[in-house]
Amino acid sequence: MTGPVSEGLDGIAVGETEISQIDGSTGSLAIRGYPIAEVAQEATYEETVFLLLYGRLPTAEELTGFRKRIASNREISNKVKIVIEQAAQEEKSAMDALRMGVAGANLGHERDNPEADAIRLIAVFPTIVAAYWRYRQGKDPIAPRQDLRHAANYLYMLTGEKASEARIEGVETYLNTVADHGLNASTFTARVVVSTQADLVSAGTAAVGALKGPLHGGAPGPVLEMLRTVNETGNPADYVRSTLAGGDRLMGFGHRVYRTRDPRAAVLEDAAHEFYTESDDADLFETAREFEEVAVELLAERVPDRRLETNVEFYTAVLLAGVGVPKELFTTTFAISRVSGWMAHALEQLDDNRLIRPTAHYTGEIDRSWTAIAER
Ligand code: ACO
Repeated sequence: MTGPVSEGLDGIAVGETEISQIDGSTGSLAIRGYPIAEVAQEATYEETVFLLLYGRLPTAEELTGFRKRIASNREISNKVKIVIEQAAQEEKSAMDALRMGVAGANLGHERDNPEADAIRLIAVFPTIVAAYWRYRQGKDPIAPRQDLRHAANYLYMLTGEKASEARIEGVETYLNTVADHGLNASTFTARVVVSTQADLVSAGTAAVGALKGPLHGGAPGPVLEMLRTVNETGNPADYVRSTLAGGDRLMGFGHRVYRTRDPRAAVLEDAAHEFYTESDDADLFETAREFEEVAVELLAERVPDRRLETNVEFYTAVLLAGVGVPKELFTTTFAISRVSGWMAHALEQLDDNRLIRPTAHYTGEIDRSWTAIAER
């Protein structure tokens, strides 16, 4: 078989979607036609999920019903809690615990209804993550509350206390901003899984695995460590130079699609700015801004043929740290949001499914003769 190979499927369109639209050259992102900045600022997370799943904004009555539907699906079974507790005791990462919990999410909830599975998965992600965090602290999980909206309930289950409106809004803006983003690696994974006609729980489990790596959702923890180090040394240029000289990448910079600053970075920077303005401790935010300026300049010198600017993960770290999400939960908090995008894509895939099965050019040896084991 001949024809060009695109390493990493770079620039290859493998299908059509009506869910999110990305323009990598102008740096724009729209969800079902709505600019990301509007979705981030205007929506509650439940509205964003409705928009993603059904393609339009809900009426007030529909939104009330939809919120109730999500809230009434938040509980996880004791069997799932046992799995998560063990993961916490063995000090597995939050993403490992989430993957185990999601895999068991339909225990006791068997059904053959993809839309119901989608709602259930979206509903239980925060419960699994918060239960893991509680077990890590040696405490019992806190049961979800049906009267709180998604972001508020997540923060509540981490501590048992209702968070301030500023923290809830910070988390909600974050959840809205990262809910969907075209055929990123984890969303593509989810679509591949359902294209085999496997169920949505399997798709969600596989997608959690794909999100975990530092080239995708695993970057914000390292970004926070980087900014804290620079905060102490006060020398961003030295940090950037020595990282690049060591052949390492700067976390939170660069993107497969964008040749501009990631539009989500601007949305999250604004949200972080708003949050830190109200707070006594704006150091991290100031450090981030200074670091960004220095890093973009030095990256341009180092990789002149590729414009490397901040991606979504950079200000994710700043915002989530500010609103009090523990660093260990940054990537799982990303998953709590992105599961809605995964589910919207899985349902879209099922709507007009064809098995996703690309090919590879074979470059190995040919025409070999078998050598008997005694003669090797
Ligand atoms: N720091 C330093 N150099 C970089 C960076 C970076 N953050 N990103 C890309 N480059 C360089 C590469 O070294 C390469 O240079 P070379 O040709 O001299 O070797 C060139 O830019 C092109 O890099 P690719 O690997 O082809 O870029 P790709 O599109 O595959 O990667 C990615 C995109 C994975 C996001 C990359 O920019 C990266 O590793 N960034 C750091 C990790 C990160 O922030 N991950 C979060 C991504 S956002 C998300 O998924 C939600």
